[in-house]
Amino acid sequence: MTAPRAIPSVPVLSLGSFAGSGATLPALDEAPAVQLVTSGRIAIGMALRALGVGAGDRVLVPAYHSLSMIPPVHWCGAEAVFYRVHPDTTADLDDLAGKLGPGVKAVIATHFFGFPQDLRALRTLCDAHGAGLVEDCAHCYFGERDGVAVGANGDYAIGSSMKFFPIFEGGCLVSHRHPLPGVLQGAGKGFEAKAALGALEAGFGHGRLPVLRATLALPLRLKTVLWNRVKARGRAGASLGAGAATALAPSSSDSSFDFDPRWLDRRSSWFSRAVLRRAGRARLVEGRRRHYLELERALASAPGWQPLFAALPAGACPWVFPLLADHPDALFERLRAAGVPMVRFGASLWPGVDAGVCANSVALGQRLFGLPVHQELRESERAWLAATVRRALEDTAKAPA
Ligand SMILES: Cc1ncc(COP(=O)(O)O)c(C=O)c1O
Repeated sequence: MTAPRAIPSVPVLSLGSFAGSGATLPALDEAPAVQLVTSGRIAIGMALRALGVGAGDRVLVPAYHSLSMIPPVHWCGAEAVFYRVHPDTTADLDDLAGKLGPGVKAVIATHFFGFPQDLRALRTLCDAHGAGLVEDCAHCYFGERDGVAVGANGDYAIGSSMKFFPIFEGGCLVSHRHPLPGVLQGAGKGFEAKAALGALEAGFGHGRLPVLRATLALPLRLKTVLWNRVKARGRAGASLGAGAATALAPSSSDSSFDFDPRWLDRRSSWFSRAVLRRAGRARLVEGRRRHYLELERALASAPGWQPLFAALPAGACPWVFPLLADHPDALFERLRAAGVPMVRFGASLWPGVDAGVCANSVALGQRLFGLPVHQELRESERAWLAATVRRALEDTAKAPA
């Protein structure tokens, strides 16, 4: 099977993005209080600030995490204390309870990979200790568990809309329990333009929206010339201030783990908000669920792997397909060489988080591969992905070294 042009690792804009309406699962942004910002990590910073986290406080964070979750804790002046997780990524409540106590102002709990966890016991623990609960729904924009929508257990919940919608930037801070303090400010015309063009270019780069691409070819070339000039000026002129050129767009849209407090209280772009409003949500949720099950079926009889989750619950809208490999290093080389997009979530953990802190987190970080299942994958791309991963698993089982 010939490889399609690089398949999109994240949802990219297409005409289909707006097909259909409604959603089959509750969404984070249906909470009573919602602020649409530029990333999930900025929303974490704002949630911790709203909980009054400050210098000398401690915040409990899962030992299995994204590196982008920790800098917002430090930005508040607090210390991140890591609690253990079980092999299925659920919080080890015994360990967590032992770490709660005076000085712990907040707990961050993550619904990994789009699978809503049962947070009721954790909620009770937090209440008993006077700690705020930040529900990290960066992987879980849609979903429910036992009839409770994701985001409803936390004092605040955060989302990373750019992982689910075809947008260049986007995150959200929501609450079912408190009003959200403060008013968001726009981030300027340069940012608005960058957010719109970034989303369009991602679609064009993967062969979507060809008619629009042809129409916009000249203005886009002009934009590239201007953008390069702005960047060059930023490099040359210290007078512009650190990062002046790149501050047109947040680094969180650039696969970086950085936290830039200049983006606190900044509103997500008009373009991203419009896509969120208009996107076909039922297509998004059902597409992801269908692609997940399709990939699971296609790989079922291949050797050398297990799914992280035994089943896809009715209340889940997966971010990726999380697969645990028996021979991760050899499989990684094969997948990388074949051009398979993947997320190795937790492969790098915060310095000091080792097997002594949480052996399960280290093992997950080594063994886990997140494969794309997003709604914008075409049939040919999904067929190629499944066949290529299958072959890589078979070859790895024959020659694991
Ligand atoms: C579990 C988790 N929480 C929070 C974040 C931060 O989200 P964002 O990249 O939108 O800042 C990420 C990012 O990957 C994440 O994986």
